[in-house]
Amino acid sequence: MKSKGSIFLAVVLFALMSACGGGSGEKEKKGKFAPPPKAKPMTYEEAKADWKNQKGLGPVKSIDLGEVESELAKKGEKIYVLKCTACHAPDKEKLGPAPKGIMDRRTPEWVMNMILNPEEMAMKDPIGRGLLMKYNTVMANQGLTEEDARAVLEYFRTL
Ligand code: HEC
Repeated sequence: MKSKGSIFLAVVLFALMSACGGGSGEKEKKGKFAPPPKAKPMTYEEAKADWKNQKGLGPVKSIDLGEVESELAKKGEKIYVLKCTACHAPDKEKLGPAPKGIMDRRTPEWVMNMILNPEEMAMKDPIGRGLLMKYNTVMANQGLTEEDARAVLEYFRTL
């Protein structure tokens, strides 16, 4: 009896909370009680095949690339030499993959998010997770600003 009682109480409380709990707008209610179903996470192979749509996770949502800007690329190369060559060589594998040709396998947004947000990318992004499995090292966050990461991206476009 006792446990039935507490279940009853819990149900009533829940009903009350649902009825009163924040927001009167239909929209908000919908968001709260009927979240859109989460897409099944992609496998590494699926995500690689779909790379043109993979923007990664992080601050960079959309970039329009124009012609390669050589000044910006030079700045990017300096940053890269300083902060990335401990683990990356431009055209062969080291601790991490070579960035040569990266623009033919990743979107610019993905590349910048990988630079700016490598920990989350390695845990939650399907390609990032696959790379972590493959290289067995988490890429270190080098604390670049978005501007610096953009410059490195420009350098990668010249490789
Ligand atoms: C501590 C070693 C380390 C440092 C320092 C490092 N990386 Fe990485 N990087 C990795 C590893 C390892 C991977 C493979 C992914 C993983 O395991 O997280 C990777 C992956 C990447 C990728 C994805 C490559 C691909 O083929 O998809 C990019 C882009 C990248 N790094 C850029 C950079 C840049 C730019 C810097 C410097 C700002 C940098 N990394 C510094 C280790 C490092």
